[in-house]
Amino acid sequence: MSAPIPFEDWMQSVQTTIEDALSKLLPSSTRIPERLHDAMRYATLDGGKRVRPMLVFAAGTLFDAPVAAMAHAGSAVEMIHAYSLVHDDLPCMDNDVLRRGKPTVHVRYDEATALLAGDALQSQAFMVLSRIDADPERTVEMLQILSEAAGSFGMCGGQAIDLASVGQDLSLEQLEQMHGLKTGALLEASVFLGCLCGRFPGADEARALEAYTRAVGLAFQVVDDILDATADSETLGKTAGKDAADNKPTYVSILGLEKSRALAEKLRSDAHQALNIFDEKAGYLRQLADLIVERNK
Ligand code: IPE
Ligand code: IPE
Ligand code: MG
Ligand code: MG
Ligand code: MG
Repeated sequence: MSAPIPFEDWMQSVQTTIEDALSKLLPSSTRIPERLHDAMRYATLDGGKRVRPMLVFAAGTLFDAPVAAMAHAGSAVEMIHAYSLVHDDLPCMDNDVLRRGKPTVHVRYDEATALLAGDALQSQAFMVLSRIDADPERTVEMLQILSEAAGSFGMCGGQAIDLASVGQDLSLEQLEQMHGLKTGALLEASVFLGCLCGRFPGADEARALEAYTRAVGLAFQVVDDILDATADSETLGKTAGKDAADNKPTYVSILGLEKSRALAEKLRSDAHQALNIFDEKAGYLRQLADLIVERNK
């Protein structure tokens, strides 16, 4: 067997593959209505860390998935993520003006266009996933996974709890539930979409991956909260210090910085432990857990 591609090179190649796939799978901005299509492309292309597609590819690699299917699934989940960011930044939600180092969609275009661009990105995500080159039964299963993760039992549900929690003292349990839904659900879906692009995981493998995604999903938002409190806007590409300014309950506001960092480390070690049943083919999943905890943006 040939040696695996080093992680940095692998990440670069996933990013290029996803950028190309998204560009092809999004409507052209020359097509009517041009302004809406332009806003969809502005929100999605040329920005972001692409962590969710990387999880699709890392899990897919573990289960020998073909690149074309992973590119479709990775694009679908990234479109849902991009839509969630466009809506998260709206004045009725976090009211943010900076995203991925650029003006947010409602600032660059207008509020109605941002709302519609988010709506249309969500529809386009399911359109793209429905056209994946996979068995029809598998395709339906993937559509179910993504719709559950995006909807009121997943990301939207978490966002509703987030908005209802402003100025409140949440218990750790409530905070974990909110983070698990608003951020963890899509990360978890990314891993399972990747698996389903390839060989079906066995029961033990599925349990291990569930434990892995629970840990990295929570770690991702714990680190997002830490970075909001500690990094600067230029590095983040979004407004730093926004959670405290908006009186949002976060891991930092409830546990403090030191304990939040310790929790992120514990979750990283949980994620690694969950992968113990796999051989070196799970290497990219292991390195992604490290990246999620060690990132500076
Ligand atoms: C930001 O997600 C929103 C959260 C769910 C915490 P990312 O940190 O993945 O944002 P991009 O895609 O890199 O811009
Ligand atoms: C948003 O969480 C998670 C989403 C579902 C978009 P945040 O509001 O903390 O995300 P940022 O910090 O604005 O990226
Ligand atoms: Mg928010
Ligand atoms: Mg926000
Ligand atoms: Mg945040």
